Amino acid sequence: MLKRLRHRFSTRQLLVPFRGRAGLAKLAVRSVGHTFPNEVVALRSVDIDFHSGQFVCLLGPSGCGKSTLLYALAGLVRPSGGHVSLDGREVTGPGPDRVLVFQEAALFPWFTVRQNLVFVLRANGVTRSEAEERARAFVRRVHLEGFESALPHQLSGGMRMRVSLARALAMDPAVLLMDEPFGALDARTRAHMHELLQSIWMRDRKTGGFVTHDIREALLLGDRVVVMAGRPGRVLEDLEVRLSRPRDPDDTALVELSRRIRVLLARAERASDSPPPVSHGQDEEDRDDEAVPRPGGVPDDAAPPVGAGV
Ligand SMILES: Nc1ncnc2c1ncn2[C@@H]1O[C@H](COP(=O)(O)OP(=O)(O)OP(=O)(O)O)[C@@H](O)[C@H]1O
Ligand SMILES: [Mg+2]
Repeated sequence: MLKRLRHRFSTRQLLVPFRGRAGLAKLAVRSVGHTFPNEVVALRSVDIDFHSGQFVCLLGPSGCGKSTLLYALAGLVRPSGGHVSLDGREVTGPGPDRVLVFQEAALFPWFTVRQNLVFVLRANGVTRSEAEERARAFVRRVHLEGFESALPHQLSGGMRMRVSLARALAMDPAVLLMDEPFGALDARTRAHMHELLQSIWMRDRKTGGFVTHDIREALLLGDRVVVMAGRPGRVLEDLEVRLSRPRDPDDTALVELSRRIRVLLARAERASDSPPPVSHGQDEEDRDDEAVPRPGGVPDDAAPPVGAGV
Protein backbone atom coordinates (compact mmCIF):
# COMPACT_ATOMS: atom_id res chain seq x y z
CA MET A 1 0.00 0.00 0.00
CA LEU A 2 2.75 2.43 1.09
CA LYS A 3 4.85 1.34 -1.88
CA ARG A 4 1.95 2.02 -4.23
CA LEU A 5 1.37 5.47 -2.76
CA ARG A 6 5.07 6.30 -3.06
CA HIS A 7 5.01 5.15 -6.68
CA ARG A 8 1.97 7.32 -7.42
CA PHE A 9 3.69 10.30 -5.87
CA SER A 10 6.93 9.73 -7.81
CA THR A 11 5.06 9.65 -11.16
CA ARG A 12 3.13 12.85 -10.42
CA GLN A 13 5.54 15.10 -12.33
CA LEU A 14 5.49 12.85 -15.39
CA LEU A 15 2.03 14.00 -16.45
CA VAL A 16 1.32 17.69 -15.95
CA PRO A 17 -1.02 20.26 -17.48
CA PHE A 18 0.49 21.69 -20.67
CA ARG A 19 1.34 25.30 -19.98
CA GLY A 20 1.93 26.36 -23.58
CA ARG A 21 5.12 27.28 -25.34
CA ALA A 22 6.50 30.62 -26.52
CA GLY A 23 6.11 31.49 -30.20
CA LEU A 24 3.56 30.86 -32.91
CA ALA A 25 2.01 27.39 -32.89
CA LYS A 26 2.48 25.39 -36.08
CA LEU A 27 -1.19 24.52 -36.09
CA ALA A 28 -3.57 26.54 -33.95
CA VAL A 29 -7.16 25.62 -33.09
CA ARG A 30 -9.08 28.61 -31.76
CA SER A 31 -12.59 28.43 -30.27
CA VAL A 32 -13.52 25.72 -32.75
CA GLY A 33 -17.08 24.48 -32.61
CA HIS A 34 -18.90 22.31 -35.06
CA THR A 35 -22.58 21.53 -35.39
CA PHE A 36 -23.64 19.09 -38.11
CA PRO A 37 -26.75 19.79 -40.20
CA ASN A 38 -28.67 17.23 -38.08
CA GLU A 39 -27.95 19.56 -35.12
CA VAL A 40 -25.45 17.23 -33.45
CA VAL A 41 -22.97 19.47 -31.65
CA ALA A 42 -19.76 17.56 -32.35
CA LEU A 43 -17.36 20.18 -30.93
CA ARG A 44 -17.66 23.20 -28.69
CA SER A 45 -15.01 25.87 -27.90
CA VAL A 46 -11.95 23.79 -28.63
CA ASP A 47 -8.54 25.49 -28.25
CA ILE A 48 -5.36 23.53 -28.94
CA ASP A 49 -1.88 24.60 -30.05
CA PHE A 50 0.13 22.04 -31.99
CA HIS A 51 3.71 23.24 -31.66
CA SER A 52 6.40 22.41 -34.18
CA GLY A 53 7.84 18.95 -33.60
CA GLN A 54 5.24 17.98 -31.01
CA PHE A 55 3.28 14.77 -31.31
CA VAL A 56 -0.16 15.42 -29.86
CA CYS A 57 -2.57 12.57 -29.14
CA LEU A 58 -6.30 13.32 -29.07
CA LEU A 59 -7.87 10.85 -26.67
CA GLY A 60 -11.51 10.40 -25.81
CA PRO A 61 -14.55 8.14 -25.91
CA SER A 62 -16.37 7.20 -29.08
CA GLY A 63 -18.41 10.06 -30.49
CA CYS A 64 -16.60 12.85 -28.58
CA GLY A 65 -15.57 14.57 -31.81
CA LYS A 66 -11.96 13.39 -32.26
CA SER A 67 -12.33 12.64 -35.98
CA THR A 68 -14.35 15.80 -36.59
CA LEU A 69 -11.53 17.82 -35.03
CA LEU A 70 -8.86 15.98 -37.03
CA TYR A 71 -10.81 16.54 -40.26
CA ALA A 72 -11.06 20.24 -39.39
CA LEU A 73 -7.25 20.27 -39.03
CA ALA A 74 -6.93 18.52 -42.39
CA GLY A 75 -9.33 21.03 -43.95
CA LEU A 76 -11.89 18.35 -44.81
CA VAL A 77 -14.45 19.83 -42.41
CA ARG A 78 -15.07 23.57 -42.24
CA PRO A 79 -15.88 24.22 -38.57
CA SER A 80 -19.12 26.09 -38.02
CA GLY A 81 -17.39 28.26 -35.40
CA GLY A 82 -13.84 29.44 -34.67
CA HIS A 83 -10.89 28.72 -36.92
CA VAL A 84 -7.83 26.59 -37.56
CA SER A 85 -4.59 28.12 -38.80
CA LEU A 86 -1.31 26.72 -40.05
CA ASP A 87 1.72 28.97 -39.51
CA GLY A 88 -0.70 31.82 -38.85
CA ARG A 89 -2.69 31.35 -42.09
CA GLU A 90 -6.28 30.20 -41.88
CA VAL A 91 -6.93 26.64 -43.09
CA THR A 92 -9.72 26.74 -45.67
CA GLY A 93 -9.33 23.33 -47.29
CA PRO A 94 -7.10 20.28 -47.64
CA GLY A 95 -3.48 20.67 -48.76
CA PRO A 96 -0.27 18.62 -49.13
CA ASP A 97 1.11 20.35 -46.01
CA ARG A 98 -1.32 18.24 -43.91
CA VAL A 99 -1.44 14.54 -44.73
CA LEU A 100 -4.12 12.39 -43.13
CA VAL A 101 -3.65 8.66 -42.48
CA PHE A 102 -6.82 6.63 -41.85
CA GLN A 103 -7.47 3.29 -40.19
CA GLU A 104 -7.62 1.66 -43.65
CA ALA A 105 -4.32 1.80 -45.50
CA ALA A 106 -6.14 3.15 -48.61
CA LEU A 107 -3.56 1.94 -51.14
CA PHE A 108 -4.14 1.69 -54.89
CA PRO A 109 -4.66 -2.08 -55.28
CA TRP A 110 -3.33 -2.23 -58.85
CA PHE A 111 -0.05 -0.45 -57.94
CA THR A 112 2.96 -2.07 -56.32
CA VAL A 113 4.32 -0.74 -53.02
CA ARG A 114 6.88 1.42 -54.87
CA GLN A 115 4.31 2.68 -57.38
CA ASN A 116 1.89 3.62 -54.56
CA LEU A 117 4.53 5.99 -53.18
CA VAL A 118 5.80 7.27 -56.53
CA PHE A 119 2.33 7.98 -57.89
CA VAL A 120 1.30 10.19 -54.97
CA LEU A 121 4.63 12.02 -54.95
CA ARG A 122 4.42 12.65 -58.72
CA ALA A 123 0.83 13.88 -58.33
CA ASN A 124 2.18 16.42 -55.85
CA GLY A 125 4.77 17.78 -58.26
CA VAL A 126 7.85 15.78 -57.24
CA THR A 127 10.16 14.92 -60.17
CA ARG A 128 10.38 11.26 -61.22
CA SER A 129 13.97 10.73 -60.04
CA GLU A 130 13.29 12.43 -56.69
CA ALA A 131 10.05 10.42 -56.27
CA GLU A 132 11.90 7.15 -56.98
CA GLU A 133 14.62 8.10 -54.51
CA ARG A 134 12.16 9.06 -51.77
CA ALA A 135 10.10 5.90 -52.35
CA ARG A 136 13.23 3.76 -51.88
CA ALA A 137 14.24 5.66 -48.72
CA PHE A 138 10.82 5.54 -47.04
CA VAL A 139 10.15 1.89 -47.89
CA ARG A 140 13.44 1.24 -46.08
CA ARG A 141 12.36 3.49 -43.19
CA VAL A 142 9.36 1.24 -42.51
CA HIS A 143 11.44 -1.93 -42.95
CA LEU A 144 9.78 -3.14 -46.15
CA GLU A 145 12.89 -3.57 -48.30
CA GLY A 146 12.35 -6.54 -50.63
CA PHE A 147 8.62 -5.80 -50.95
CA GLU A 148 8.88 -2.85 -53.36
CA SER A 149 7.29 -4.88 -56.19
CA ALA A 150 4.57 -6.52 -54.09
CA LEU A 151 0.91 -5.63 -54.66
CA PRO A 152 -1.15 -4.56 -51.60
CA HIS A 153 -3.14 -7.83 -51.54
CA GLN A 154 0.14 -9.73 -51.16
CA LEU A 155 0.88 -7.89 -47.88
CA SER A 156 -0.41 -8.33 -44.34
CA GLY A 157 -2.57 -5.63 -42.72
CA GLY A 158 0.41 -4.36 -40.72
CA MET A 159 2.60 -4.21 -43.83
CA ARG A 160 -0.11 -2.28 -45.71
CA MET A 161 -0.28 0.20 -42.86
CA ARG A 162 3.51 0.56 -43.02
CA VAL A 163 3.20 1.40 -46.74
CA SER A 164 0.53 3.96 -45.91
CA LEU A 165 2.80 5.47 -43.26
CA ALA A 166 5.78 5.49 -45.63
CA ARG A 167 3.70 7.22 -48.29
CA ALA A 168 2.55 9.88 -45.82
CA LEU A 169 6.09 10.48 -44.51
CA ALA A 170 7.55 10.58 -48.03
CA MET A 171 5.26 13.52 -48.77
CA ASP A 172 7.18 15.37 -46.05
CA PRO A 173 4.08 17.23 -44.82
CA ALA A 174 4.35 20.04 -42.29
CA VAL A 175 1.84 18.12 -40.16
CA LEU A 176 1.03 14.42 -40.13
CA LEU A 177 -2.50 13.62 -38.98
CA MET A 178 -3.60 10.09 -38.08
CA ASP A 179 -7.08 8.83 -37.23
CA GLU A 180 -6.78 5.61 -35.22
CA PRO A 181 -4.31 4.27 -37.79
CA PHE A 182 -3.60 1.05 -35.87
CA GLY A 183 -7.17 0.41 -34.72
CA ALA A 184 -7.73 -2.50 -37.10
CA LEU A 185 -4.45 -4.29 -36.35
CA ASP A 186 -3.96 -7.20 -33.97
CA ALA A 187 -2.21 -6.46 -30.67
CA ARG A 188 1.23 -7.76 -31.68
CA THR A 189 1.29 -5.91 -35.01
CA ARG A 190 0.08 -2.81 -33.25
CA ALA A 191 2.91 -3.01 -30.73
CA HIS A 192 5.38 -3.25 -33.64
CA MET A 193 3.79 -0.20 -35.25
CA HIS A 194 4.17 1.71 -31.99
CA GLU A 195 7.87 0.84 -31.87
CA LEU A 196 8.30 1.86 -35.50
CA LEU A 197 6.42 5.14 -35.11
CA GLN A 198 8.37 6.00 -31.97
CA SER A 199 11.70 5.39 -33.68
CA ILE A 200 10.66 7.43 -36.74
CA TRP A 201 9.46 10.22 -34.47
CA MET A 202 12.65 10.32 -32.43
CA ARG A 203 14.53 10.81 -35.69
CA ASP A 204 12.21 13.16 -37.65
CA ARG A 205 10.37 15.12 -34.91
CA LYS A 206 7.47 15.97 -37.19
CA THR A 207 4.43 17.83 -35.93
CA GLY A 208 1.71 15.26 -35.45
CA GLY A 209 -1.92 14.85 -34.47
CA PHE A 210 -2.92 11.29 -33.57
CA VAL A 211 -6.46 10.24 -32.68
CA THR A 212 -7.00 7.28 -30.42
CA HIS A 213 -9.32 5.99 -27.73
CA ASP A 214 -6.58 3.81 -26.28
CA ILE A 215 -5.06 5.49 -23.21
CA ARG A 216 -1.82 3.53 -23.21
CA GLU A 217 -1.30 4.16 -26.93
CA ALA A 218 -1.68 7.90 -26.32
CA LEU A 219 0.87 7.83 -23.47
CA LEU A 220 3.27 5.69 -25.44
CA LEU A 221 3.34 8.00 -28.45
CA GLY A 222 2.36 11.48 -27.33
CA ASP A 223 4.43 14.43 -26.20
CA ARG A 224 1.02 15.64 -25.14
CA VAL A 225 -2.29 13.92 -24.53
CA VAL A 226 -5.36 16.06 -25.08
CA VAL A 227 -8.18 14.34 -23.21
CA MET A 228 -11.61 15.01 -24.70
CA ALA A 229 -15.12 14.42 -23.44
CA GLY A 230 -18.36 14.15 -25.36
CA ARG A 231 -21.83 15.70 -25.41
CA PRO A 232 -20.68 18.19 -26.65
CA GLY A 233 -17.14 17.34 -27.75
CA ARG A 234 -14.69 19.45 -25.77
CA VAL A 235 -11.21 19.43 -24.26
CA LEU A 236 -11.13 18.14 -20.72
CA GLU A 237 -7.37 18.32 -20.12
CA ASP A 238 -4.30 19.14 -22.18
CA LEU A 239 -1.48 17.15 -20.57
CA GLU A 240 2.24 17.06 -21.18
CA VAL A 241 3.82 13.59 -20.98
CA ARG A 242 7.31 13.75 -19.52
CA LEU A 243 8.27 10.11 -19.89
CA SER A 244 11.62 9.65 -21.63
CA ARG A 245 11.77 7.94 -25.04
CA PRO A 246 11.74 5.28 -26.28
CA ARG A 247 8.78 4.33 -24.12
CA ASP A 248 7.80 0.87 -23.04
CA PRO A 249 4.05 0.05 -22.81
CA ASP A 250 4.73 -2.10 -19.75
CA ASP A 251 6.75 0.54 -17.91
CA THR A 252 5.21 0.86 -14.44
CA ALA A 253 5.23 4.68 -14.62
CA LEU A 254 3.32 4.59 -17.93
CA VAL A 255 0.82 2.11 -16.48
CA GLU A 256 0.31 4.40 -13.48
CA LEU A 257 -0.27 7.42 -15.75
CA SER A 258 -2.79 5.47 -17.82
CA ARG A 259 -4.67 4.68 -14.60
CA ARG A 260 -4.79 8.39 -13.77
CA ILE A 261 -6.22 9.29 -17.17
CA ARG A 262 -8.77 6.49 -16.96
CA VAL A 263 -9.96 7.78 -13.60
CA LEU A 264 -10.20 11.30 -15.06
CA LEU A 265 -12.30 10.04 -17.96
CA ALA A 266 -14.54 7.95 -15.74
CA ARG A 267 -15.22 11.05 -13.63
CA ALA A 268 -16.08 13.03 -16.76
CA GLU A 269 -18.44 10.25 -17.82
CA ARG A 270 -20.19 10.32 -14.45
CA ALA A 271 -20.46 14.10 -14.55
CA SER A 272 -22.12 14.01 -17.98
CA ASP A 273 -25.84 13.49 -18.35
CA SER A 274 -25.61 9.94 -19.72
CA PRO A 275 -26.09 6.80 -17.59
CA PRO A 276 -22.98 6.10 -15.46
CA PRO A 277 -20.52 3.37 -16.50
CA VAL A 278 -21.43 -0.14 -15.37
CA SER A 279 -19.59 -1.05 -12.16
CA HIS A 280 -17.33 -4.08 -12.41
CA GLY A 281 -17.41 -4.57 -8.67
CA GLN A 282 -13.85 -3.34 -8.36
CA ASP A 283 -12.35 -0.14 -7.03
CA GLU A 284 -11.94 2.24 -9.96
CA GLU A 285 -8.50 3.31 -8.75
CA ASP A 286 -7.26 -0.29 -8.81
CA ARG A 287 -8.44 -1.33 -12.25
CA ASP A 288 -5.96 -1.11 -15.05
CA ASP A 289 -7.55 -1.52 -18.44
CA GLU A 290 -6.38 0.98 -21.01
CA ALA A 291 -9.37 1.68 -23.20
CA VAL A 292 -11.32 4.85 -22.64
CA PRO A 293 -14.60 4.02 -20.90
CA ARG A 294 -17.38 4.01 -23.47
CA PRO A 295 -20.58 5.89 -22.87
CA GLY A 296 -22.69 3.62 -20.70
CA GLY A 297 -19.64 1.57 -19.75
CA VAL A 298 -19.74 -0.71 -22.79
CA PRO A 299 -16.37 -2.48 -23.08
CA ASP A 300 -14.29 -1.52 -26.09
CA ASP A 301 -13.92 -4.78 -27.97
CA ALA A 302 -12.74 -3.08 -31.14
CA ALA A 303 -9.50 -1.87 -29.61
CA PRO A 304 -7.53 -4.36 -27.52
CA PRO A 305 -5.13 -2.86 -24.96
CA VAL A 306 -1.72 -2.06 -26.35
CA GLY A 307 0.68 -4.89 -25.70
CA ALA A 308 -2.08 -7.29 -24.64
CA GLY A 309 -1.15 -10.82 -25.54
CA VAL A 310 2.30 -9.79 -26.77
N1 LIG B 1 -21.37 13.67 -41.09
C1 LIG B 1 -21.99 13.70 -39.91
N2 LIG B 1 -23.29 14.12 -39.83
C2 LIG B 1 -23.90 14.19 -38.64
N3 LIG B 1 -23.34 13.88 -37.46
C3 LIG B 1 -22.06 13.46 -37.48
C4 LIG B 1 -21.32 13.34 -38.70
N4 LIG B 1 -20.07 12.91 -38.43
C5 LIG B 1 -20.03 12.74 -37.09
N5 LIG B 1 -21.22 13.08 -36.52
C6 LIG B 1 -21.54 13.06 -35.08
O1 LIG B 1 -20.63 13.94 -34.44
C7 LIG B 1 -20.21 13.37 -33.20
C8 LIG B 1 -18.68 13.25 -33.22
O2 LIG B 1 -18.32 12.27 -34.19
P1 LIG B 1 -16.81 11.86 -34.45
O3 LIG B 1 -16.79 10.90 -35.58
O4 LIG B 1 -15.98 13.08 -34.58
O5 LIG B 1 -16.44 11.12 -33.07
P2 LIG B 1 -15.14 10.30 -32.68
O6 LIG B 1 -14.68 10.83 -31.37
O7 LIG B 1 -14.16 10.28 -33.79
O8 LIG B 1 -15.74 8.83 -32.45
P3 LIG B 1 -15.04 7.38 -32.72
O9 LIG B 1 -14.04 7.17 -31.61
O10 LIG B 1 -16.19 6.42 -32.62
O11 LIG B 1 -14.41 7.40 -34.08
C9 LIG B 1 -20.94 12.05 -33.05
O12 LIG B 1 -22.06 12.27 -32.24
C10 LIG B 1 -21.34 11.70 -34.46
O13 LIG B 1 -22.55 10.97 -34.46
MG1 LIG C 1 -13.41 8.79 -35.07
